[in-house]
Amino acid sequence: MYIFAAINKNDLNFTIMINKKLQDAINAQINAELWSAYLYLSMATNFHAQGLSGIANWFEVQFKEEQDHAMIFYNYLVSRGGRVELKAIDAVKTEWATPLEAFEDTLQHEEKVTSLINNINALAVELKDYATQNRLVWFIDEQVEEEESAQKMIDSLRMIKDNPYAIYMFDKELAARTYTQASPLATSAE
Ligand SMILES: [Fe+2]
Repeated sequence: MYIFAAINKNDLNFTIMINKKLQDAINAQINAELWSAYLYLSMATNFHAQGLSGIANWFEVQFKEEQDHAMIFYNYLVSRGGRVELKAIDAVKTEWATPLEAFEDTLQHEEKVTSLINNINALAVELKDYATQNRLVWFIDEQVEEEESAQKMIDSLRMIKDNPYAIYMFDKELAARTYTQASPLATSAE
């Protein structure tokens, strides 16, 4: 009884329905994740046009992963009694002259996404929304991986330069990438 008396009504609201500011930030993030998906699909088609189907495959997997990210936020907002608002997805760049240019753009974009995720987390901390902070842990870890993998590609491509055989081998290596559904989606289906 004493414990309940110590919690005021506003605090209880945090655990039931999501704060409007946080809802807006998550909706913006859903849009950003779908924009990322669109960007990577654009990169994929660019490399198909250059005959580099392995690199195209890598970006197609990336495209699917970004859609997963959007769906994780979508499911989370629904589970918190929030309203998903789908806004227009901005146009993306359509041409990359080299794989290096695409992976440099990838790294730059992922660094931006990391800062967006960090900003949502800062807002969740400010609003004492512990459930959102918990949900964001997966994304914070995921961003470390995204930046690391883009950086590794850049490192390899800087060594490769214009060597056709090395580009051929790099393309072959990226052809092996397969898609696995993001773990938060796999568990939410149970
Ligand atoms: Fe993402």
